[in-house]
Amino acid sequence: MFTHAFAADPYPAYAWLREHAPVHRTVLPSGVEAWLVTRYADARETLADPRLSKNPLHHSEAAHGKGKVGIPGERSANLMTHLLNIDPPDHTRLRRLVSTAFTPRRVAAFEPRVRELADRLIDGFAGRGRADLIHEFAFPLPIYAICDMLGVPAEDQDDFRDWAGMMIRHGGGPRGGVGRAVKRMRAYLADLIHRKRGDLGDDLISGLIRASDHGEHLTENEAAAMAFILLFAGFETTVNLIGNGTYALLRNPGQRRLLQDALAAGDTGLLRTAVEELLRYDGPVELATWRFATEPLTIGGQRIGTGEPVLVVLAAADRDPDRFGDPDTLDLTRRDNPHLGYGHGIHYCLGAPLARLEGRTALSSLLGRLPDLRLAADPAELRWRGGLIMRGLRELPVEFEPVP
Ligand code: HEM
Repeated sequence: MFTHAFAADPYPAYAWLREHAPVHRTVLPSGVEAWLVTRYADARETLADPRLSKNPLHHSEAAHGKGKVGIPGERSANLMTHLLNIDPPDHTRLRRLVSTAFTPRRVAAFEPRVRELADRLIDGFAGRGRADLIHEFAFPLPIYAICDMLGVPAEDQDDFRDWAGMMIRHGGGPRGGVGRAVKRMRAYLADLIHRKRGDLGDDLISGLIRASDHGEHLTENEAAAMAFILLFAGFETTVNLIGNGTYALLRNPGQRRLLQDALAAGDTGLLRTAVEELLRYDGPVELATWRFATEPLTIGGQRIGTGEPVLVVLAAADRDPDRFGDPDTLDLTRRDNPHLGYGHGIHYCLGAPLARLEGRTALSSLLGRLPDLRLAADPAELRWRGGLIMRGLRELPVEFEPVP
């Protein structure tokens, strides 16, 4: 596991684990030992089990495994108290606060802006007849979208693009580069929050500063950690939704035609089920983030000791034949689709409405404007990014009839 060949197609190995070792202890490339949970029913239960903590201090190796679980550089950048690292009651309080700023209404109002961004990016390569869809489309779209939403001024957004590039390029590689990018982003956000305090606007950062719960406000430090986690959690995931999703469509011409015909006829219903199916079939998040047993417990008949790390393999659970009919087939019309691509339980993806909006807009703009889009590489040659949690392509070369 976790080799290049595995990254190209991890699904046969996951099928084997589901069948023969559904709760399996393994040594990760970082040297940390962890339990992998691969069956859908176990995965769903595990994600919602309050006996599993998200706080890395509960890791039995917390003292000597320092920095091996979690976001590189998060200790030094003072990022420990973000949603994905904390448990109730702190989690409940912070999640409620950020939810008052990150509302479905704010997301829905953002749709025209996302479409404009997608169109502008497509304009950049439409006349050329070729493009790398990761670098020129999937990567910049979410970073500009979330910067806009947070209220990062336009003149600073290219800095974010560079920092995000460092984070993605170094994913799975040397941690130094990611750590540096994380620190710069974090310092920038702290400064932006400080500057905005005196001049609140309609953006998400102003919303975070205003957010209050029973008279209690986010501290500047909490607001900066929150803005950062929105960026961190909402960036590479969305790159991979657009990248993996487009790739799956290009490799399944019948399904792609179905979607393209529906869109051409003005029917956007299929687009909704399509985005959910693409998340299930080859989702952006391969493994859910770290969880640690706070007491001895049993998952799928397997005893887990206090302090032992548990990783739920979403990619394996979402192809479990005990839950999904014909799980290895991409079926954009699939209706019974309670996939775990956004997680489950109290840590269920906070950004799901934005992710869905970006996924729908990106795919419909791309297929609408470049109807003859095709893969310009041998699938066997495509490289996937390393790294434990996320699953995504490094590049996606395509060609099409140039559009003036
Ligand atoms: C949590 C997936 C996009 C913000 C999660 C989790 C998953 C996930 C699986 C739960 C992790 C766990 O329990 O270990 C995705 C996917 C996305 C996406 C597949 C894109 C297709 C976004 C976006 C944002 C975002 C756009 C925000 C702008 C968050 C936050 C959490 C989270 C803040 C933590 C919630 C909590 O701990 O309470 N996401 N996400 N995500 N996501 Fe997303």
